[in-house]
Amino acid sequence: MTAYLNGQYLPLAEARISPLDRGFLFGDGGYEVIPVYSHRPFRMDEHLRRLQTTLDGIRLPNPHSIDEWHDIVRHIIDQAEFEDQAVYIQVTRGADSKRDQAFPKDVPPTVFVFTAPMVNPSPAQRETGIAAITAPDIRWGRCDFKTVSLLPNVLARQLAVDAGCVETIMLREGYLTEGAASNIFVVKNGVISTPPKDHRILPGITCDVVLELAAQHNAAHEVRPVAEAELRSADEIWMTSSTKEVLPITTLDGHPVGDGKPGPIGKTMYAWYCTFRDEVMRRA
Ligand code: PDD
Repeated sequence: MTAYLNGQYLPLAEARISPLDRGFLFGDGGYEVIPVYSHRPFRMDEHLRRLQTTLDGIRLPNPHSIDEWHDIVRHIIDQAEFEDQAVYIQVTRGADSKRDQAFPKDVPPTVFVFTAPMVNPSPAQRETGIAAITAPDIRWGRCDFKTVSLLPNVLARQLAVDAGCVETIMLREGYLTEGAASNIFVVKNGVISTPPKDHRILPGITCDVVLELAAQHNAAHEVRPVAEAELRSADEIWMTSSTKEVLPITTLDGHPVGDGKPGPIGKTMYAWYCTFRDEVMRRA
């Protein structure tokens, strides 16, 4: 499989970076995961805009123009034999000759891109929904930047795996923030709600698609803080991400969500999502 590393296309197994890379030493970098359907990237410009926001936020000059990113990603997608993919882009502050927290001078960033087959939820998971747990959100104050400093997310996701669950929903000061690797929606009495985009959560590209679809189809929806009690008494809970798309959460901390089955509004939203995605992506 071909990867891109610092200006070169090469087999992924041959890609090498320095152990002094600041991504490795300090988690000093940003990343994106772009879903690809039928060899076409989905919402690529939105992902590149979010990458720009992350790089601006961590004061790392973007090493490539939009057109250059398109060329690199296109090249990586085209050489992969699988149709549906998840393209990974990572930019770090490069490898200095010494370990110093302050920014290095005149050190080129490390740019790494590779693709893998898209791993979507299984039909069984779609049929029954998945189980999630809650945990305190112990992350830093700029969760709106998609940085590779992912240790709190790693620990949160592992809590879910340890509990035999798929996702951990994080709570901060009595309010829902997001999943360890997803945004979260709740439904109560027919109204869809999700927390506002601020420094506490990643502005999800899939979340935006879902909100656009809700608006287009006149589905009642609100973007507002969601209290822990509302999460616990929701009729439906969904997680959204580039790879999970829209996935119902039917068990929370061992308790059924609503009647414990995927709810009607989530099913409808997933159908709208698939139709939209297929219209945009799978056209001949
Ligand atoms: N994660 N929140 C967090 C913390 C995430 O890591 C992700 C996605 C999302 C959803 O964002 P989007 O809809 O743009 O994929 C929300 C990616 C898939 C990952 O790290 O693998």
